[in-house]
Amino acid sequence: MDIFRDGICAGKVVFVAGGSSGINLAIGQRFAELGAKVGLISRKQDRVSAAAQTIVDAGGTAMGIEADVRDYAAVEAALAQVKQAYGEIDVVISGAAGNFLAPAVALSPNAFQTVIAIDLLGTFNVLRACYDHIRKPGASLISITAGQATRPVMFQAHAGAAKAGINNLTQGLAMEWGPAGIRVNAIAPGPIGDTEGMSRLAPSEEATAALKARIPLRDYGTKRDIADLAVFLSSENAKYITGAIIDCDGGSNLGDASADALAIPHADRRDA
Ligand code: HXC
Ligand code: NAP
Repeated sequence: MDIFRDGICAGKVVFVAGGSSGINLAIGQRFAELGAKVGLISRKQDRVSAAAQTIVDAGGTAMGIEADVRDYAAVEAALAQVKQAYGEIDVVISGAAGNFLAPAVALSPNAFQTVIAIDLLGTFNVLRACYDHIRKPGASLISITAGQATRPVMFQAHAGAAKAGINNLTQGLAMEWGPAGIRVNAIAPGPIGDTEGMSRLAPSEEATAALKARIPLRDYGTKRDIADLAVFLSSENAKYITGAIIDCDGGSNLGDASADALAIPHADRRDA
């Protein structure tokens, strides 16, 4: 059952950084399905145009603009273009990211810096540049972080450090921009199925099964799970939520739940 009414986002303008694929595109698609106009940016015009076209083909309104989040001027220009076309921006999603599994000793300084530059510096660029283009009061800014920010994972020193920075930035900006009526939050997805991220982090059936066995809810999430949380966080119903880092991860960030605690008979056990 869907609790969101048709057209609930009509009149809203949404800007998605890193919107050519995966979770971020799904967020853009969901907002568009609910009536919003959506601007997407990514490094590659062909990919981001194709992504925008999926929204248009589904009856929505969208444009795709080439802009690398490491290039402040390009991000600024894209925000201005979206505002010019659709009006003041209500929702900004900062989700551009790069990641790969690598032990720290296999990371060159440039490898570490590249991930910091896309994820953390890119998020600063998007959030800083959007300030003059968003609705004040009323805007909802959402960064896409990860559980690795607060619970370190081996071979993820680069991405974990970058996402930890995003968490702190989110909370600092929530304090500074709250008085202007801007809410700043982050979503920490857990492992989400059918994404580039998981194909890199759990690249085989064995790795996938082993990971699922450690998740309290025993499965990957869906891109739609994250998109629905973004819609809620940008709604009036969430108007008192700011500075929050919200896990949507099946309980993953709580720790390894592979032990079968319910080996002890329990009346509430679902598979008993
Ligand atoms: C070690 C690596 C590497 C690897 C690249 N590098 N891949 N080092 N192991 N597997 C090094 C390169 O050798 C180079 O260092 C430096 O990183 C920069 O590489 P480039 O290819 O020049 O960078 P660029 O073209 O900017 O591409 C960025 C990228 C790439 C991050 C490396 O993978 C990319 O474009 N990713 C975008 C898509 C993506 O990653 N999606 C998943 C996001 S999911 P040297 O020293 O040789 O110059 C995600 C999941 C969950 O974030 C989050 C958990 C925290
Ligand atoms: P994805 O499909 O690879 O998405 C990454 C997006 O970022 C792509 O659209 C990519 O587009 C864009 N991008 C990369 N570098 C960029 C740059 N420099 N400038 C502008 N855009 C750039 O990966 P995903 O797995 O869906 O991940 C999406 C977000 O969720 C990321 O923030 C990731 O860290 C987070 N996350 C994912 C998971 C998961 O399970 N997948 C878990 C936790 C957190 P181009 O290549 O076209 O530039």
